[in-house]
Amino acid sequence: MDNLEQIVTSALADFAACGDPPSLENAKAKYLGKSGALTDLLKGLGKLGAADRPAAGALINQAKERLEAALNARREQLAQARLDAQLAAEALDVTLPGRGRGLGGLHPVMRTWERVEQIFRSIGFEVADGPEIETDWYNFTALNNPENHPARSMQDTFYIDDRDAAGLPLLLRTHTSPMQVRYARMHQPPIKVIAPGRTYRVDSDATHSPMFHQVEGLWIAENISFADLKGVYADFLKKFFERDDIVVRFRPSFFPFTEPSAEIDMAFGDAGEKTTWLEISGSGQVHPTVIRNYGLDPERYIGFAFGSGLERLAMLRYGIDDLRLFFEGDLRFLKQFN
Ligand code: DAH
Repeated sequence: MDNLEQIVTSALADFAACGDPPSLENAKAKYLGKSGALTDLLKGLGKLGAADRPAAGALINQAKERLEAALNARREQLAQARLDAQLAAEALDVTLPGRGRGLGGLHPVMRTWERVEQIFRSIGFEVADGPEIETDWYNFTALNNPENHPARSMQDTFYIDDRDAAGLPLLLRTHTSPMQVRYARMHQPPIKVIAPGRTYRVDSDATHSPMFHQVEGLWIAENISFADLKGVYADFLKKFFERDDIVVRFRPSFFPFTEPSAEIDMAFGDAGEKTTWLEISGSGQVHPTVIRNYGLDPERYIGFAFGSGLERLAMLRYGIDDLRLFFEGDLRFLKQFN
């Protein structure tokens, strides 16, 4: 019995030294387990005389209670320490400002696209959409660009290995003009439509991008003239640039699908100063061969078409001098439009 006090002292010291629950449970086994030091003492009681047994038993039980109390206290300490460590590790500073989501905005070319649609809708045009992968026939042949005609090489494009269901060669459309033919073959005159969209050419420098945007316009009926083209286009420009002093001029040009053909130039009317003409759009009276390819009789139907670059319109409206800015994705540039 002499060593009872020693056992208690060393057990208390062991418990206090344990830094985690598994070692604490091991220490418990050392004293209170099946063959622990205190258990051995209890087992030894039988060897004592009957007179000494009750007092010795009481002492050992007291010691056992002390150890169990110390053990539970240490268990709680360790559990608390573990919780504290976890709370510290997963600390959440609820006073930090939120990260927020960046709000996207419309690209200036898309803004221009939407604006052009809105203006033409307001003067009675439908808006049509068509494929960017186009057949050679719609992109060139139907538009009076015969095979091997030199005008084709002015619009060198990206060819696609596959062919369409009818076996026709496919390419990325070089202009939105094939939409004239697609739309006219599906609708009856009067046809009054614009077709904005992406177009492609093998071209890349400060004023050319391999992908760019155009808007095609087409008005076909029994009596649509160049005067109508001038009226419609001048009206569009005034609305688009939000000024009334826009002067429009037609400069003779050549496109296989129009005859006569013209470039539309515009100038802002700065009285007194030398006029600067800005080239805005190709246009013309639709060629009889093209009207025939619409599936219509060129003796009966007549009208105009135009094709304008959306980047060009956006650059003039916003005063942008390098086309490449549109395609570099530089937020310092793009944010200015939102
Ligand atoms: N498709 C021509 C181009 O990309 C532009 C054009 C010119 C379209 C005259 C027309 C037009 O509809 O009449 O260069």
